[in-house]
Amino acid sequence: METLRTKLSDRLQMVASFVNKGDVIADIGTDHAYLPAYLVSNKICPKAIASDIGTGPLKNAEKIVFRANLHQHIKLMISDGLEKYSPDNADVFIFAGMGGTLIVKLLENIDWIKNNEKRFIFQPMSHSEDVISFLINNGFEIEEEKSCFDSGRCYIAFSARYTQTSKKYDECFPYIGLLPNNSDESSKHFISKQYNHLKKRADALNCANINLSEQKEIRKILSQIENYL
Ligand SMILES: C[S@@+](CC[C@H](N)C(=O)[O-])C[C@H]1O[C@@H](n2cnc3c(N)ncnc32)[C@H](O)[C@@H]1O
Repeated sequence: METLRTKLSDRLQMVASFVNKGDVIADIGTDHAYLPAYLVSNKICPKAIASDIGTGPLKNAEKIVFRANLHQHIKLMISDGLEKYSPDNADVFIFAGMGGTLIVKLLENIDWIKNNEKRFIFQPMSHSEDVISFLINNGFEIEEEKSCFDSGRCYIAFSARYTQTSKKYDECFPYIGLLPNNSDESSKHFISKQYNHLKKRADALNCANINLSEQKEIRKILSQIENYL
């Protein structure tokens, strides 16, 4: 087994920072398998599963895994989301680099994810609020959230676990999650981005004089986010 010399992007490095030493991980939508290859070759994870829906991406993964001589430690698998998985395959299930709407689709109707011994790491590229809403409405808690800049773009990632909670959250929580606890520039930037996005939507609805109840809901969320700007 070789240590991969290639550095991870700042985005994937942020995702990797959620993984604890000894965790067996499953990387769903792995594409090139950079993340599991990095985690295994740096001896953070003893083994990993790297899966993808596409044969093309899995071929990319195969190249990386064989080149680094990691094939005895990383299992490559074609799977539509969690379709081919069972809970005993891994301790931590990672969904990075996919849209939030797709991530929610991949979690819906998979009952075994409601297991407090499993941890999930998400790095949605868009609609992170859909992922957080799904999680908090289904008894999961967000444990940790981080953000970073990578090539001029701001990314977030968070970890979650099923705790069977029915905790009540402010309406703004799906949009900004735990980022108000962080003091770094990228977290502030992401909160402002969510604020501006919602404001645009509310202003457009106001201009068109439609969806008054949605406008009211968005204004409420905006006023909550203002406390963190
Ligand atoms: C943009 S790449 C992200 C690669 C890597 N996870 C990262 O963060 O850099 C998204 C990958 O998700 C895969 N994908 C899309 N839909 C999927 C699904 N339903 N199940 C598994 N993988 C999927 C795509 O084939 C693609 O390789």
